[in-house]
Amino acid sequence: MRNLIERGSRRLQRAGVFFGHGTDNAWDDAAALVWHALRLPDNPAPGVYERRVSAAGQARVEELFDRRIRERIPAVYLTGQTWFAGLPFKVDPRVLIPRSPIAELIEQRFSPWVPASRVRRILDIGTGSGCIAIACAKAFPNARVDAVDISADALEVARENVRRHRLGKRVRLLISDHFRALQGESYDIIVSNPPYVGARELNALPPEYRHEPREALAAGRSGLDSVRVILSEAGRHLRAGGVLIVEVGNTERAVRRAYPKLPFIWLEFERGGGGVFLLTAEALAAHAAALESVEPGNRSLAHARRGTRQAKSRRRRAERSVRRPAAARRRP
Ligand SMILES: C[S@@+](CC[C@H](N)C(=O)[O-])C[C@H]1O[C@@H](n2cnc3c(N)ncnc32)[C@H](O)[C@@H]1O
Repeated sequence: MRNLIERGSRRLQRAGVFFGHGTDNAWDDAAALVWHALRLPDNPAPGVYERRVSAAGQARVEELFDRRIRERIPAVYLTGQTWFAGLPFKVDPRVLIPRSPIAELIEQRFSPWVPASRVRRILDIGTGSGCIAIACAKAFPNARVDAVDISADALEVARENVRRHRLGKRVRLLISDHFRALQGESYDIIVSNPPYVGARELNALPPEYRHEPREALAAGRSGLDSVRVILSEAGRHLRAGGVLIVEVGNTERAVRRAYPKLPFIWLEFERGGGGVFLLTAEALAAHAAALESVEPGNRSLAHARRGTRQAKSRRRRAERSVRRPAAARRRP
């Protein structure tokens, strides 16, 4: 076994495959393929590395390595399973491979940003495999989680994962373009790993990314299409004391440039990764006017224009409300 993994890992390195989709090094990638080909359980008995492997087993392993190298398919698409926040998830090319640093935050129950005991409702925008929504439901056993995605295919995979983790009663899957299906809903936590790859960056990505759904990655010319919609609408769906947490990866610079006045808190992670910001409900409310502007050419322009009309009438209402006594302006 050990020799098979070592040999496979050297093959992967020689072939120059890209790591970063569920595994981040050649040994783990090779081990995942060997494990799967030999149908080993997730927690095999000690001494497994010293086991002899039959000729048929070795042939199955070689076949998987051939596909990994020739077709540049990420290892976990070949095995059909990956891990996120310590939980197993089914994955296939209908969903992005879970790898968000947000896993670490969920494991810490978003401490110190929200009092965990008060969290009742969570929203995950762009749920893909359902990994963030499901991990949140596990971390907050008293909370209900809404998980939306624009892709019906992705939601099928998410449904299988919700069933696998027996969370059908607390995780609701909805097809929705961002907040569109969520009129009138409000949350303590809104979390999202939306598409955020800009056009130029998208074309330069290693071939492994081409196996992932394009709509999970592509976010217009500058990578900001989805983030802009989330920023402009999240305030309306956050409860007092709530937080918005969004991964934007390498698009962090573009986000800072586009919203110089927004008081983003850029989160740090012990296990690596970055490009994740947090905004409080109060910060979003205070900067509502700045969040109305939408870049021309935005994929969601029509949606945003409608949002802008709504924002204008919100502003008119707000202007009227400043004349009222403070107590009357307090949120219910
Ligand atoms: C980067 S993937 C994240 C998947 C998953 N949350 C994760 O972290 O692995 C982005 C997801 O957003 C979905 N998506 C893209 N555009 C969307 C939109 N306008 N509204 C809702 N979901 C969208 C994609 O289908 C994809 O599943």
